[in-house]
Amino acid sequence: MEERELIRLAHEARHRAYTPYSGFKVGAALLTKEGKVYQGCNIENASYGPTNCAERTAFFKAVSEGEREFEAIAIVGGKDEEGAYQTCAPCGVCRQVMMEFCNPREFRIMLEDGKGGIRVYTLEELLPLGFGPENLQ
Ligand code: THU
Repeated sequence: MEERELIRLAHEARHRAYTPYSGFKVGAALLTKEGKVYQGCNIENASYGPTNCAERTAFFKAVSEGEREFEAIAIVGGKDEEGAYQTCAPCGVCRQVMMEFCNPREFRIMLEDGKGGIRVYTLEELLPLGFGPENLQ
């Protein structure tokens, strides 16, 4: 799947974000190695703490359906439509969730650069020296 198409699916998911408190809407599109896509949006809560990020929504949907092999994730976010094309990097908790299921040297994270382009990072670039399942072997 093309990077641009995965970003488009992340924008589609972003429109379903439930954000009555922050107004900051995030969308994610997670691509499995078999080519299936799981979309996720952030889901806020009046008690704030239970809020779930878009990336984790996508991962938990996929993992709960039995998926374990992931290729890439596209993430978009912002307060309004214009801001939606700024870079929205995943939070630390979401990077750690990625670390649980993805090879940090291979898994790719696609972000918009705010100028109409897409920047691609490996998980290792965004989470150097990450702690993962291998550390417990
Ligand atoms: N958020 C995400 O969905 N993903 C991130 O990686 C960063 C933050 C959401 C959580 C909350 O609903 C809103 O953005 C503001 O923090």
